[in-house]
Amino acid sequence: MKMMILFFFFILPLALADLKVGFYGSSCPKAESIVQKAVRNRFNRDKSITAALLRMHFHDCAVRGCDASILINSTKSNTAEKDSGANDSVRGYDLIDEVKQTLEDACPSTVSCADIITLATRDAVALSGGPKYDVPTGRRDGLVSNINNVNIPGPNSLVSVISQFFEKNLGLTTQEMVTLFGAHTVGVAHCSFFANRLSSSGGKPDPTMDPALSAKLVKLCSSSRDDPATPLDQKTSFLVDNEFYKQILAKKGVLQIDQQLALDTNTKGFVSDFASNEDRFQKGFANAMVKMGKIDVLIGNQGEIRKKCSIFNNRN
Ligand code: HEM
Ligand SMILES: *[C@@H]1O[C@H](CO)[C@@H](O)[C@H](O)[C@H]1NC(C)=O
Ligand SMILES: *[C@@H]1O[C@H](CO)[C@@H](O)[C@H](O)[C@H]1NC(C)=O
Repeated sequence: MKMMILFFFFILPLALADLKVGFYGSSCPKAESIVQKAVRNRFNRDKSITAALLRMHFHDCAVRGCDASILINSTKSNTAEKDSGANDSVRGYDLIDEVKQTLEDACPSTVSCADIITLATRDAVALSGGPKYDVPTGRRDGLVSNINNVNIPGPNSLVSVISQFFEKNLGLTTQEMVTLFGAHTVGVAHCSFFANRLSSSGGKPDPTMDPALSAKLVKLCSSSRDDPATPLDQKTSFLVDNEFYKQILAKKGVLQIDQQLALDTNTKGFVSDFASNEDRFQKGFANAMVKMGKIDVLIGNQGEIRKKCSIFNNRN
């Protein structure tokens, strides 16, 4: 009898409360189309939204799992993840807030902010020529966001250090890591993240960088503008394609870590493979994104469904 009670009241609900494709099918049938419409509207005005969302999704999942902890604003008593130096100019918060508002009007307190990030990223990737894939939903929003939890390694770390982080903290293999770095096929990096590779910074130029690219970046970064930026993929910076891997094989990686992926013995095989096979990259990227989106998720009645993505429901 005790076992039965245990099963029906505790174990069964937990087993049912898992991520699944179409989680909102009956509770908010329009959820996915509402997200998609908002992303498409934004994309039509600003193609860089894909990069913004990909980076946001990673920075969310890499700290306490995919629980929308990155969206929380700091308060007097709590400095949130957002304000970490490692927030590295994550952007796109306004789109998430806008989608959330529309979803609250359609189905109050139903769709989590963590799922909005996941769905919006998926939709933006498809709009940018990337794979079209189903993502499971049913994530709940976390109740903690603290700057002290942010420990994502920086772009000048060794491949071995980043691999360790992916394996130990995120449960992702080295191959999945290389696949996810394919996200650097869109978006930009600011000079402050790669200036150490340029002669102009006082050091010696990084010999692993193509001299023509190096000269171009020296010029860009010595302009009087405040911390200018350059595409991470110097060729097709608005397309989710395998060009990033071709670029790093041609010594045209902007970030040190990107370039090192093409040189390190543990990763260069995966780089050559993706560079030579667009289809394998597209399929692998979709699978790796789905896996990234499952890192330490809250499900069932864990956490909460925030009403506003930038504050906890019970603010204090
Ligand atoms: C530890 C691993 C990683 C490091 C060290 C890293 C580092 C960086 C750095 C330094 C930038 C430039 C930021 C700026 O100047 O504003 C950047 C941009 C970006 N990263 Fe990563 N990254 C990592 C993993 C990832 C992953 C896994 C994804 C997505 C799956 C991703 C997606 C992006 C995107 C899309 C941008 C461009 C953002 C924009 O244009 O607004 N990164 N990354
Ligand atoms: C969180 O901060 C952003 C940016 O400062 C602001 O636009 C937004 O309104 C804030 N959220 C709330 C609920 O106050
Ligand atoms: C991180 O976010 C805060 C506030 O949102 C901002 O003032 C700071 O400049 C950001 N840091 C970086 C490195 O972008």
